[in-house]
Amino acid sequence: MKIIDNPFVISGYEGAHYFCDRELEIEQLRHEIANGNNVALIAPRRMGKSGLIEHYFSMPEIQEHYYTFFIDIYDTKSLRELVRKLSREILIRLKPFGARALDRFWQTMRSIQSGMSFSPMGDPTFTVQIGDIKEAETTLEEIFRYLDAADRPCIVAIDEFQQIGKFPEKNIEATLRTYVQRCHNAQFIFSGSQRHTMSTMFTSASRPFYQSVSLMHIDPIDKTAYDAFAKALFAEGNRTLEDGVTEAVYALSRGVTWYTQKLFNVLYGFTREGGTCDVAQVEEALDYILKTQSYVYEETISRLPEKQTVTLVALSKNGPTKSITSAAFVEKYSLQSASTVQSAMRGLLEKDFVTLEKGIYSVYDIFFDYWIQRVY
Ligand SMILES: Nc1ncnc2c1ncn2[C@@H]1O[C@H](COP(=O)(O)OP(=O)(O)OP(=O)(O)O)[C@@H](O)[C@H]1O
Ligand SMILES: [Mg+2]
Repeated sequence: MKIIDNPFVISGYEGAHYFCDRELEIEQLRHEIANGNNVALIAPRRMGKSGLIEHYFSMPEIQEHYYTFFIDIYDTKSLRELVRKLSREILIRLKPFGARALDRFWQTMRSIQSGMSFSPMGDPTFTVQIGDIKEAETTLEEIFRYLDAADRPCIVAIDEFQQIGKFPEKNIEATLRTYVQRCHNAQFIFSGSQRHTMSTMFTSASRPFYQSVSLMHIDPIDKTAYDAFAKALFAEGNRTLEDGVTEAVYALSRGVTWYTQKLFNVLYGFTREGGTCDVAQVEEALDYILKTQSYVYEETISRLPEKQTVTLVALSKNGPTKSITSAAFVEKYSLQSASTVQSAMRGLLEKDFVTLEKGIYSVYDIFFDYWIQRVY
């Protein structure tokens, strides 16, 4: 087990010891993959999608039987970039399996072979630039040919998959769908957050991925399970976590994993060795977080168009809202008109400031939400 200063991890994955619960979700993934299905994992931002996949990939039974590849395409703007990322990931992940495994991949990747090499010891070097990929589709085809011929079954996770909707190339969805379907030696986990985009991709009859995957959703981690997890981590650091703290944290974080972890990370830092963390400290932790973030929040607000700012503030003050264009809402916050609210909201949704789930609008970043309520 890796020892880290603060056991409440707020970025990345640090191993099973610092990972709470998700047993049912792991079981579900295990079941889907074992039955040959591909999975679309859709959940709100920061709920723990990426962590879940990493946790799943790190399990000994997966490590022993599969090659696992994981790419995040959040900042990927074209198929060409995706193909580059995936090639690089495969090359790097094959490293522990030695020169023979690497060679098999290298042999297949004719179109970018000159940008990939490895030492006889199996140390890979990847120098492929975007410009080196002349035909993204050719390289993509090679990757799939490799996956199909690999000496182990493969699981490929593509995180922030909704991003492919923004790629300039035509028919990406259909192309990928075709490759995915034809490939028998690899299974796929597509995960993403923009709930709407991701779900329409997989649930509309007119879209290529329709009915080709098992849909999976994750909810907040069970509060009782989290409480036991947090208490154990405090105890390991020779600190005591009082009853009720998890409850108070969950009330603020709404159970969204990253916000829960962030609050606990600060609370742990506040508590000296031998000391106790009590409920009163939860508000202090939030104050601390908002104070350290306020510069960023001010900048963020200042970059928004005026109409979006007033709409965002109105939504924040009102709390999660269904009828944003109702006369009551428009009047209460002295907004110009229903149509201005609507167009401002569209902008806010596009930029991920606001989320829309089951017809309800809410400010996506929970801490930003609290900050707006305090400042405006
Ligand atoms: N089960 C868990 N136990 C403890 N910490 C977790 C758990 N799941 C996620 N985390 C932590 O919460 C944070 C957010 O998780 P993660 O990045 O997996 O969410 P996400 O849904 O992929 O977010 P995004 O939408 O921003 O990509 C991470 O820092 C991660 O370390
Ligand atoms: Mg993620």
